[in-house]
Order: sequence, then structure tokens, then C-alpha cells
Amino acid sequence: MRTALVTGATSGIGHAFCHELAERGNDLVIVARHRARLENVSDELRARYSVNVEILAADLSNRAQLQRVADRLADRDRPVNLLVNNAGFVTGKSFLKGDLADEEAMLDVLCRAVLVLSHTAARSMRERGRGHIINVSSVAGFVPMGTYGAAKGWCTAFTQSLAHELAGSGVSATALCPGFTHTEMQERSNVDMSRLPKVMWLEADQLVRDCLDDVKAGKVLSVPGVPYKLIAGIAEVAPRALVRALSGRAAALRRRKR
Ligand SMILES: NC(=O)c1ccc[n+]([C@@H]2O[C@H](COP(=O)([O-])OP(=O)(O)OC[C@H]3O[C@@H](n4cnc5c(N)ncnc54)[C@H](OP(=O)(O)O)[C@@H]3O)[C@@H](O)[C@H]2O)c1
Repeated sequence: MRTALVTGATSGIGHAFCHELAERGNDLVIVARHRARLENVSDELRARYSVNVEILAADLSNRAQLQRVADRLADRDRPVNLLVNNAGFVTGKSFLKGDLADEEAMLDVLCRAVLVLSHTAARSMRERGRGHIINVSSVAGFVPMGTYGAAKGWCTAFTQSLAHELAGSGVSATALCPGFTHTEMQERSNVDMSRLPKVMWLEADQLVRDCLDDVKAGKVLSVPGVPYKLIAGIAEVAPRALVRALSGRAAALRRRKR
């Protein structure tokens, strides 16, 4: 890896990716909506690791702004060797109570942006015969629970299918499927997670290191933490009717609390 493009680089998991990749000597292209925060991250990375950092302020739910990021990935003179599709958010509302516009924006960022950027990056990486794509999905994608989980289920399935298509090309695709991680996401969505047992919380720095090890080992799915490896494993082998019944019950409990 030499240059990595990370979306959602200003906070949480994306920010942890930037630090880990810069520490390993990679130059970075960092993407998020708020320029001032991007500039702070850029200053921090340049000062600490002496790497080059390029800023791209873009709202990935906006088609024209997303295209600017895709154009950067397609630039043959400045190749990007690693794409981390990480930007994301959760509406924090049940489907019928929330605004459709918020749902559409979430789908655009969690799915459409991942589709468009993966398409551009995979084509140019395949031309060069090397590169990596990491799509930050979620363990929520293994169970049918809300539109966020549905979008992440798409992300995981899409990444696995992309990995098939890229097999033998020198380019890899990995879906990172974390569980609850200490980031700004919970505050932004106003979801109260105070009752979640400590053992279920992940730390962004550690899961990023584990994910990069998984990429190196050629894994298509990276599920960090023992509890989530178990949940993902059970959800994959249990009868769908049972998974549906259990997730339906959990979703009803969550709806009652909101
Ligand atoms: N935290 C968890 O428990 C958890 C669990 C599983 C999966 N994930 C996934 O991990 C990824 C990162 O989440 P996080 O927890 O690190 O969240 P976070 O701390 O809230 O960071 C989200 C990042 O995405 C950027 N972003 C949000 N909306 C954007 C948009 N429309 N266009 C461009 N950038 C946008 C934000 O910057 P701006 O606001 O400046 O745009 C920020 O840099 C997401 O895909 C999330 O679904 C998180």
C-alpha cells in the first residue's frame, strides 16, 4: 500500500484507519463533509507521521460530490492502492417513524457511495494488477433488523461478490463487520447504549489493526472480537426462521424504548 483513500476519515473507525495507515507509511486522501475537521486531521497526520495528506470535502449522499471522489480514484497519475469505504451513519429511528429523506440519504451513503467508489477503484486497481478495497459493513448485516442492518447486509453481500469477481486479479475486497464500537456514531444518532455490557464494546484502533491483518491474510470477511465472531457464525448457520424470530423480538423491544 502507498496511497490510501479513506471516507469518513474525521472520526471513529475512519480516523483510526488514517492513523494506522499513516503510521505504516502510507500517504492519505481523506474524505468527509466538514472541511475544518478534515484540516485538523490532516495537520495531525502530517505532524505525527510525515506523510502526504490530501483533503476532499464531499457529502457522499450528493451525487455530484460523490463523483468528485470517484474521479480522484480514477486518476491514473496519482494511483490509490487502498480504498476504505467507511463513511456512514444510522438514522436512529424506526422506518415508519422516521423521514423518508433521512432513509434515502443513509442508503446513498451506506450503499450507493460504496457501489460507485468500489466500481471506479476496482477497475483502476485491476488495470494495475494490485490494490485492496475495504468496505466497512457491520455485524448488523447478518440479521434482519432495521434499514441500517438491511443496508449493511447489502454491503457484506456486495463485497463478497466483488471479491469473487476480482479473484486472481491481484486486487482484494474485504468486508469489515464490526459490532458496537466506541465512536461518535451513537451520540450522533441519539441511541442510548449505556446498558450494553462492557464485553460487547470494541475499540476502533484494535479492530483496524485486526482488519489490516485479515486483509494481509486474504480474508474476505473480517469480524472483530470474540462475541461478534460467535454471533456472526451462529447467524450464518442457524435456520433463517429462527434468526428472523429472534431479531424480530429484539427489534420490537428496541421500538418500545424509542
Ligand atoms: N460505531 C459502531 O458501533 C459501528 C458498528 C458497526 C459498523 N459501523 C460502521 O463504521 C463506519 C464508521 O462509523 P463510526 O462509528 O466510526 O462513525 P462516526 O464516528 O460517526 O464517523 C462517521 C464518519 O463519516 C463521515 N460522514 C458521515 N456522513 C457522511 C456523508 N454524508 N458524506 C461523507 N462523510 C460522511 C463523518 O464526517 P462528517 O460528519 O464530517 O461528514 C465521520 O468522519 C460506518 O459505516 C458505520 O456504519 C460502526
